[in-house]
This record gives sequence, structure tokens and C-alpha cells, in this order.
Amino acid sequence: MKRSRLILLTGSVAATALVAAIAAPTATARVRTQEEKPFVSASSPIAAGEYLMILGSCHDCHTAGWTEKKGNVPKADQLAGNPVGYYGPWGTVYGKNLRQIADRQSEDHWVEVMRTADGGDGKLPMPWHNAAKFSEKDMRAMYQYTKSLGPNPVRLPRGTKPGVKPTVGQYFDLTVKDSTNK
Ligand code: HEC
Repeated sequence: MKRSRLILLTGSVAATALVAAIAAPTATARVRTQEEKPFVSASSPIAAGEYLMILGSCHDCHTAGWTEKKGNVPKADQLAGNPVGYYGPWGTVYGKNLRQIADRQSEDHWVEVMRTADGGDGKLPMPWHNAAKFSEKDMRAMYQYTKSLGPNPVRLPRGTKPGVKPTVGQYFDLTVKDSTNK
């Protein structure tokens, strides 16, 4: 009696394994849609966007003084761009005034730029390669938070072409130096 039960059990385990083996390829071949990517859940898209802009380090480059003041920058001054430039092989770029961008550009355009700039004319040090991986829901939440702050027409210095250093204001030099080449 004992023996036959064991056989029965082994048989059902084998059957389960066979079903799993048949089912597995279909499961892995399934296309992941945007909706299946992780996203931040909060009381509203604006609240999610506020959280994401901090966790995504967006303020570090797009809010003047954010790092120096350890994030204690009033909302009135947030995300209006950073006048400290980033000089590198791409020339000089500035963490853009995202409030003006959100004011002038549509949410769909924002999503499009986030997704495509890495393969286009998006320049470093903006982490375009990471930004493209946000779920669409999170990209839209970040736009909505930025837009909710309203326009703030702070002007930044003009960027420079490759090989040309800035002649105004402050900038980080992000060119790679070789310590052995003194
Ligand atoms: C290390 C600095 C840095 C960080 C971090 C950073 N940015 Fe940027 N960002 C920049 C710079 C510099 C530019 C301008 C790049 C260029 O001209 O291609 C830029 C450009 C952009 C633009 C393009 C605006 C346009 O349409 O021209 C958007 C949108 C943007 N950033 C959003 C974000 C968001 C959202 C985050 C956080 C997830 C973020 N950035 C984090 C430095 C940064």
C-alpha cells in the first residue's frame, strides 16, 4: 500500500514538472509592457514626482545649491537650473531649468526626450542612460511635479562647444586626468 502511494506521488510530481516545462517558454517569451515596470505609488502623481525628483538625484544638478544646502532649498527655487557648469569633452552644459521646460513643453514631449536623448543629442553628465529606464508612469509623475511648481524664468549661462572652456561663472571640470601623466 505504502509503495503504490509513493509511485502515485512521484507520478504527480513528474506531471507537474512536465506542465511547468511546457508552460515556461511561453512565460519567458511574453513581452514586458511599460505598465509592468515598477513605479512609485503615492497619494497623487505630483507627490510621486516630488519623491522621484529627490531619489533620482535630479535636484543635485537641476537645483542651484541643492547639494551644498543638503536639500534645504525652498520650493520656489527648486528645479530652476544650476548656474554651475559641467565642462567635458562635450563642451560646457548646465543642468537645465526644468520649470521652464515643463512650462513650455508637453508631458508627451518630456517622455519622448527621456526615452530617446541617450541615442540622440543628449549630453553628459545628464544620466540619460538611466533616465530612459524609468517607467512611463514615473516619467509623467516627474513632469507633473515640475510643472506644479510653475514657471521660474532663471537664466543660465550659455553652453560652450567642445574644446571651449566657459569664460563666465563657475564650472566643474569633468575631463578625465591621468595621475601618472604629471
Ligand atoms: C549629473 C547631473 C544631472 C542629473 C543627476 C540629472 N540631470 Fe537632467 N540634465 C543635466 C544636464 C547637464 C542637462 C543638459 C544636457 C544636454 O544639454 O543634453 C540635463 C537635461 C535634462 C533634460 C532635458 C531638457 C530638454 O528638453 O532639453 C531633462 C528633461 C532632464 N535633464 C531631467 C532630469 C531628471 C528628471 C533627472 C532626475 C531623474 C535629471 N535630469 C538628473 C544634468 C543632470
